[in-house]
Amino acid sequence: MRVLKDVDLTGKTILITGTTAGIGKETARVLALKGAHVVMANRNLKLSEELRNEIYKETPHRKIDIVQLDLSSLASVKHAAEEFLAKKWPLHVLILNAGVNYPPSPVTKDGYEVTFGINHLGHFSLIREASIFSTIYALLLKPFGKNVEQGAATTVYCATSPYVENESGRYYADCADAEKDLNKALARDENFQDALWSKSLEFIQKFEQNQSHSRL
Ligand SMILES: NC(=O)c1ccc[n+]([C@@H]2O[C@H](COP(=O)([O-])OP(=O)(O)OC[C@H]3O[C@@H](n4cnc5c(N)ncnc54)[C@H](OP(=O)(O)O)[C@@H]3O)[C@@H](O)[C@H]2O)c1
Repeated sequence: MRVLKDVDLTGKTILITGTTAGIGKETARVLALKGAHVVMANRNLKLSEELRNEIYKETPHRKIDIVQLDLSSLASVKHAAEEFLAKKWPLHVLILNAGVNYPPSPVTKDGYEVTFGINHLGHFSLIREASIFSTIYALLLKPFGKNVEQGAATTVYCATSPYVENESGRYYADCADAEKDLNKALARDENFQDALWSKSLEFIQKFEQNQSHSRL
């Protein structure tokens, strides 16, 4: 909460994926306690509701909504984006937190390798489906060896601090710009970025074509 000491998030809508555990859970909690309208996009509705009730015990604000999202299914991503858009909520910040470090199965429901399918392709599709999204913060930090509050601090800082509101596409750790620690040869390789973008788009379009064929 220290990074949000003087921050009031009243009037801000923040969508965050994967808040049933770990960093996402703590991030959703502190953002909600600071008055944000938090939309939790999770696959487990029961755990999401339990978390919402936990947070409501700490604050009189009642501004948490839940959207069901399973990032291992592009159909679920599409459905979640449609649900969000149908509500006509504004979106000030999108936090792409959900992810797997130790995949439970080798492939997603759409047949992609799980880490790629959930951590990258599911989020790529979410952004594309709901193109109103403006500020996008993907969790690319390095929280190893920290407790969950410390792990969430950089996410919260990047999502809310006026000091970084005009920054884009940079790498942060410990609530500070950590570009110097980045493997730039890999992370800033524009050929690789373009290839990843094109391939991701190709996969999503293939999914959309399959969906429209199955509707015929
Ligand atoms: N902790 C670290 O040291 C560390 C280091 C580097 C990067 N990260 C990244 O930071 C993020 C959060 O890490 P964490 O340690 O807080 O992870 P965590 O405790 O394992 O929590 C992961 C969250 O992602 C959700 N999730 C997983 N698969 C999903 C799916 N298919 N659809 C929707 N939600 C899904 C989980 O929901 P369920 O309850 O449904 O499983 C859970 O809410 C991840 O992206 C991770 O890769 C963490």
